Amino acid sequence: MGILIKHGDVVTALDQWTGDVRCEGGTIVELGVGLEPRAGEQVIDAGGQYVFPGGIDPHVHMEMPFMGTVSSDDFETGTAAGVAGGTTSIIDFVIPGRGDDLMRTLGVWHERAAKAVADYAFHMAVTWWGDDTAEHMRRCVQDEGIPSFKTFMAYRGAIGVDDIELIKIMNTARELGALTTVHAEHGDMVVDLQDKLFGEGKISPKYHALSRPAPLEGEATSRAIMLARMTREPLYVVHVTCQQAAHAITEARERGQNVIGETCPQYLLLDADVYDKPDFEGAAYVMSPPIRPRGHQQALWAALKAGTLQVLATDHCPFNMAGQKEMGRDDFRLIPNGAAGIQHRLALMYTYGVLEGRLDLHDFVNITSTRAAKIFGLYPRKGAIAVGSDADLVLWDPAATGVISASTHKHRCDRNIFEGFKTRGAPSRVIVNGRVQCSDGQLSVETGAGRYLKRSLS
Ligand code: URP
Ligand code: ZN
Ligand code: ZN
Repeated sequence: MGILIKHGDVVTALDQWTGDVRCEGGTIVELGVGLEPRAGEQVIDAGGQYVFPGGIDPHVHMEMPFMGTVSSDDFETGTAAGVAGGTTSIIDFVIPGRGDDLMRTLGVWHERAAKAVADYAFHMAVTWWGDDTAEHMRRCVQDEGIPSFKTFMAYRGAIGVDDIELIKIMNTARELGALTTVHAEHGDMVVDLQDKLFGEGKISPKYHALSRPAPLEGEATSRAIMLARMTREPLYVVHVTCQQAAHAITEARERGQNVIGETCPQYLLLDADVYDKPDFEGAAYVMSPPIRPRGHQQALWAALKAGTLQVLATDHCPFNMAGQKEMGRDDFRLIPNGAAGIQHRLALMYTYGVLEGRLDLHDFVNITSTRAAKIFGLYPRKGAIAVGSDADLVLWDPAATGVISASTHKHRCDRNIFEGFKTRGAPSRVIVNGRVQCSDGQLSVETGAGRYLKRSLS
């Protein structure tokens, strides 16, 4: 059965108009004004509401084995939480352990992702360099629809790479026409600081943040940019948290280098005071890079508005306090790094970005959907409201209000780092592949309905 959305205030990255959107067979088939309903069509009156392209979160970790445990949302619960908040597609990271075969690990991720309720794609993390790596990277790009590679300059001794490996990855990616993405922190310096602090008996969550200060991210971002420049490889810097890193990206872009920056709501809206919470509650905020001291947030907002930071992702990677974060009660180095966020990205950005005058509606659509689609090879199938695009749409009620809480969120996690944040605006309906999958907060998702998205950057 098709859907006809009537009288919506349709907002895309470029334009805004009031009218109707017809969806049929999972695709947008007609745009116009005064479209007549057809027999059997579901008609939705979107008067007084925005119609946005479905959100795309290009940085999530569902069911990811990490630091001795597994992130607590699987592909079903995590994509469902995304749909509840208006995110209709994700890009997750396939992460082989050091020494693991890339292609075999890709098979494992496909098995896990088969239960996703919304469409998904993968980046491939290259966590070590071996005889087969270049050939496996080629297969990712040319056969598997994965034209982006993830590298970690942090997490030394686990999934992190050294500079020689990073150079090889960038050179190979350039030859393949693929995009290198990077988690930028000075991994060796982090280990040194962690061990020093722990050796002084400093064991609580706030020392996680003190072991990873902003200059370590700034230096690694500059180094990654320099390596990308030398190898002539485009670079996408994930989860930018600080002024130093934003500045390095701005400077590179002004020189004409193809460097893209991503940030996340937690780095825009929280400050390092969260680590002072009593009773080990600061552990909920342990993520890498950490939440920064006051002052950095303003620089990130400015870079987001200027387009230096082009994408808003979440780095959704939830761990429960009970049984997971708790593992590091006596040693901050053992607290699993990560937090939930996929459900709240749009509402937080609408409330604290658009309504506070930091962003306009086109910026909002760009950073939550269209740019990710363009950068990662999903456009115009995703990220657009156009004839022929997938019918992934968010009907946004600007009058809705809410308060974020772990007691009501859809994440499978016992904490919410945005606990108590007030929001204005919420999806009244979320349409995924031409079907209403969320109505006024009530999910009607279907296990396994999500499709694997093969991407191409050509
Ligand atoms: O703390 C984080 N960010 N956990 C997820 C893994 C990563 O570095 O993105
Ligand atoms: Zn990371
Ligand atoms: Zn991540």
